[in-house]
Amino acid sequence: MKVLKVGGSVITHKDGFESFNELAIEEICSAIAENYRDLILIHGAGSFGHPHVKKFGLKDPLSVARIHDACVRLNERFCKKLLDFNVPAIGIHPFTCDFSKISEILQKGFLPVLHGDVNSNFEIISGDDLVVKLAEDFKAELVGFATNVDGIYVNGKVVEKFTRDLRADSFGESDATGSMRRKIERIFGMKHTCRVFIFRGNWENVKKFLSGKAIGTEVIL
Ligand code: IPE
Repeated sequence: MKVLKVGGSVITHKDGFESFNELAIEEICSAIAENYRDLILIHGAGSFGHPHVKKFGLKDPLSVARIHDACVRLNERFCKKLLDFNVPAIGIHPFTCDFSKISEILQKGFLPVLHGDVNSNFEIISGDDLVVKLAEDFKAELVGFATNVDGIYVNGKVVEKFTRDLRADSFGESDATGSMRRKIERIFGMKHTCRVFIFRGNWENVKKFLSGKAIGTEVIL
């Protein structure tokens, strides 16, 4: 079982507002199309989530519903693009979804595609948290984070392996769900041991990750 999260900064232009990165998504979809067996895909919200959180806040049902709507629209566009590449993608919206459905969806040969979202407690559901939860639930062997950086930086250089005793010095941009530091903390907090890679989300790297090759930085649990 593999769990792959494609960051919002890969599939959207993060400085824009609801700005879909068509070329990047096509690259990712074409890599996934070659090998999506036993895969759960999650994507971030990028400019379909973070600017909305800033604009509307998480203060009342209407603002939360607006944020959810934007995340769903991004998910629909991503799934549509996967379908264009003949991948049987099924969008799953964490706000409303029944997670117990995922194993059946997988078994029948579909590709479940979840996303960063909000919930009825007026909170953000980060895609990174979903990765950890699903990796634990499905006892994944391989977990990947396709991001807008080459891996984890230590002393200005991307390291091949990152262990608990190292201190990362690339924290990425800060947004509604935090930076590289939070990602690393979440990964180390996982109650399941598997291989975890953080890498730049492009065609070549996603292909390598899906075929089990080492790429970017491996986080050693
Ligand atoms: C954030 O999800 C969800 C919202 C802001 C509503 P993620 O944390 O997974 O998104 P990215 O990858 O940072 O864009």
